[in-house]
Amino acid sequence: MAKSFSDDIVLNNGVSMPVHGFGAYKIIDENELRNSLETAVDAGYRLFDTATFYRNEASIGQFFQSAGLKRDEFFVTTKVWNTDQGYDKTQKAFENSLKKLQLDQIDLYLVHWPKQETFFETWKALEKLYDEGLIRAIGVSNFEAHHLDRLSTKANVLPAVDQIETHPYFPNHLLHDYLEKLHIAHQAWSPLGRGPVLEENELKKIGQRYNKTAAQVVLRWHIQNQVAIIPKSENPKRIRENADIYDFELTREEMIVINNLNRGERVSNAPDVIYVRTEPEN
Ligand SMILES: NC(=O)c1ccc[n+]([C@@H]2O[C@H](COP(=O)([O-])OP(=O)(O)OC[C@H]3O[C@@H](n4cnc5c(N)ncnc54)[C@H](OP(=O)(O)O)[C@@H]3O)[C@@H](O)[C@H]2O)c1
Repeated sequence: MAKSFSDDIVLNNGVSMPVHGFGAYKIIDENELRNSLETAVDAGYRLFDTATFYRNEASIGQFFQSAGLKRDEFFVTTKVWNTDQGYDKTQKAFENSLKKLQLDQIDLYLVHWPKQETFFETWKALEKLYDEGLIRAIGVSNFEAHHLDRLSTKANVLPAVDQIETHPYFPNHLLHDYLEKLHIAHQAWSPLGRGPVLEENELKKIGQRYNKTAAQVVLRWHIQNQVAIIPKSENPKRIRENADIYDFELTREEMIVINNLNRGERVSNAPDVIYVRTEPEN
């Protein structure tokens, strides 16, 4: 379990990845994004999660340049979008991401969602880019156990990370156990469930015992479950608050109370809906 905000986990290919990062989905406004990233860097965040789909790679790239951060001082994750998948298209999309981020190498490149038709071709493209040294670690997102099983029938490199929806209303415990068995790191997206779960009285009550907010309790619950996290906020106070979770420990009973909030309720599509979808997506 991570003991401090600056802890890393070692991925299955030996690359170190910060356990606790910053999610940049839906931060489109350039000023908002720059202010949020400045606060995040100041608060000690080193991992930044973006995607072609978020349309903010270029602004994030500009920020890295202007902030004067050394390359080994930050870790960037980006992802190939569904309509860019396939062997040639993925390589082209990767090249575009690299240019926008103004980098020579991406730390972690993910397949954003599994797509049935282009499934192996996309992964082969990631393997090629990885072999060429353009990516330090390759992984997937929104892959369920059966997608991982399918991938393993032809993959030369196994995914280092599976970034999946995980929060108290949808804890994804079974997939977590499967990922652990496969030595694939579990990284939670929407670790705060995008907000509504934070209104739960049980979370507030637990927080009061430690002088913490419901959000801090939820993030701490992930860390104690050995799950990596990338909470998103564009509010400076909350960006700092979300980092301040390493000075208390939830009891076994409190962990169970939070586990019991499980409703099997996602904030977004089930992966198989996207997997089989053939109509164009934006
Ligand atoms: N791979 C995928 O398919 C996928 C899908 C979705 C997301 N992601 C990644 O995961 C990251 C996080 O997920 P997310 O953005 O969907 O949701 P999230 O981090 O669970 O929640 C973000 C929401 O919670 C609010 N919030 C943040 N900190 C808070 C706090 N301390 N107290 C109260 N409210 C707080 C934010 O509002 P304010 O900004 O106003 O603070 C925002 O409305 C994304 O940014 C993205 O990088 C990946």
